[in-house]
Amino acid sequence: MNTAMKQLNRKLMVARRHGVDSVAMALAGRALQFPLALAFGGDKWHLRGFHTTNYKKVAVRLADAVPGRLEVVAEVGCGLGDVLKRIPARRRIGFDIDRGAIRWARFLQRLSPRRCEFGVGSFDALIRSDAERIDLLVMLGWFHYMPDEWIGDQMRALLASKRVRYLMVDEFPEQEGRIKRLFDAFGERVECRHDWQDDKNLLLYRCGG
Ligand SMILES: C[S@@+](CC[C@H](N)C(=O)[O-])C[C@H]1O[C@@H](n2cnc3c(N)ncnc32)[C@H](O)[C@@H]1O
Repeated sequence: MNTAMKQLNRKLMVARRHGVDSVAMALAGRALQFPLALAFGGDKWHLRGFHTTNYKKVAVRLADAVPGRLEVVAEVGCGLGDVLKRIPARRRIGFDIDRGAIRWARFLQRLSPRRCEFGVGSFDALIRSDAERIDLLVMLGWFHYMPDEWIGDQMRALLASKRVRYLMVDEFPEQEGRIKRLFDAFGERVECRHDWQDDKNLLLYRCGG
């Protein structure tokens, strides 16, 4: 079978698994969001919306595994806040270094009843924020291209300045073991869920903060 046929078959399989309603929502979302991507200059990756991206659904369900009420949820590298805005919490804080994505997220926020506070920045911005305790810290879809040392330094600085109860992070298949090895130093791994679509694992850690 040639590559084009294989890709088409894969797309059909993915669409079938998500279901007709999700595919319709994703297509409508993409059509509406395309002009916003151009207007705000955010990365086109964000057109890959929630409804047909399985790891985002897994992440929202995995947040349910955190015991107790979520007062504060923070995400670093939040993009448009697709995951963040769906996690039930009293306060949601998202940071991203992509200024265009944050402007785009803030625009979408005006149309949504789910409140999030979005800011440009990374761990340094979260460290400077007024949130002292974070019930769940989310970091998805970008650690695979950051060096171990950088991740380690950022996590140590964050955990020294904030009380973090749980954290969620993902690990790509071609790097299996890397994120686990890094994060096992920062907490106890309590859940690992597999995402069938991107073949990655989502890990939940208890940090005890
Ligand atoms: C693949 S997207 C995932 C977005 C979001 N986490 C999600 O799953 O929907 C990765 C995001 O990480 C952001 N990012 C990359 N490096 C970053 C850094 N050093 N600090 C904060 N955000 C970063 C990118 O701008 C991008 O929006």
